[in-house]
Amino acid sequence: MTITTCVFDAYGTLFDVAAAARVAAQEPGREQLAEVWPQIAADWRAKQLEYSWLRAVSGAYVPFWDVTKDGLDWAMERAGLEDLELRERLLALYWELPAYKEVPFMLAHLKAAGKTCAILSNGNKDMLDGAVDSAGIGLYFDALLSVDKVGIFKPASQVYDLVGAEFGCAPDEVLFVSSNGWDAGHAASYGFKTVWVNRSGLPMDRLPGKPAHVLSDLTTIPELV
Ligand code: LAC
Repeated sequence: MTITTCVFDAYGTLFDVAAAARVAAQEPGREQLAEVWPQIAADWRAKQLEYSWLRAVSGAYVPFWDVTKDGLDWAMERAGLEDLELRERLLALYWELPAYKEVPFMLAHLKAAGKTCAILSNGNKDMLDGAVDSAGIGLYFDALLSVDKVGIFKPASQVYDLVGAEFGCAPDEVLFVSSNGWDAGHAASYGFKTVWVNRSGLPMDRLPGKPAHVLSDLTTIPELV
């Protein structure tokens, strides 16, 4: 089936989620953070995702911004960082995460080829609007689809249903791109043609669905459609 629609996960796929802690760590007076920022970034992300899955299975949905704050609080407490000003700074930086450098060119290429492009993310709509505006890539997207509409996080199938509901396309017309192995795996089980962007050379997740493609970044996505 011809791919008509390219759908991207947001955090970690288009936007560099480690940038918030990395950027803050370079600011004057942040010597303590400078020593632990990689651990903060990793714990923050891991807990944010863990809380999203737990809330999905227990039916206790809250906007992704809430689990983002909860994840940061856990990560800062683990690192022994009790600093409200730093917490606010890290959260503010999360609204202006940089897009990976190849993103604008890759999206421009897809649009020039006549493809529909969208984001499908756990992020609540205002988070997605903020990230896309800050990175200056809003012009390339036909829709920013948030799980807010269905009140449950990925990988619940209701989330992947949002793509067909928005564009009227069949799952096998969709190229779904995610840097999260679990997201790529479940999207493949759902029926999307799936790309796992494996920037850090991780082993493949042991899940029933397998991505059709594994790439190290987003540069060659246009060649797949
Ligand atoms: C998202 C998270 C999973 O953007 O990265 O949906």
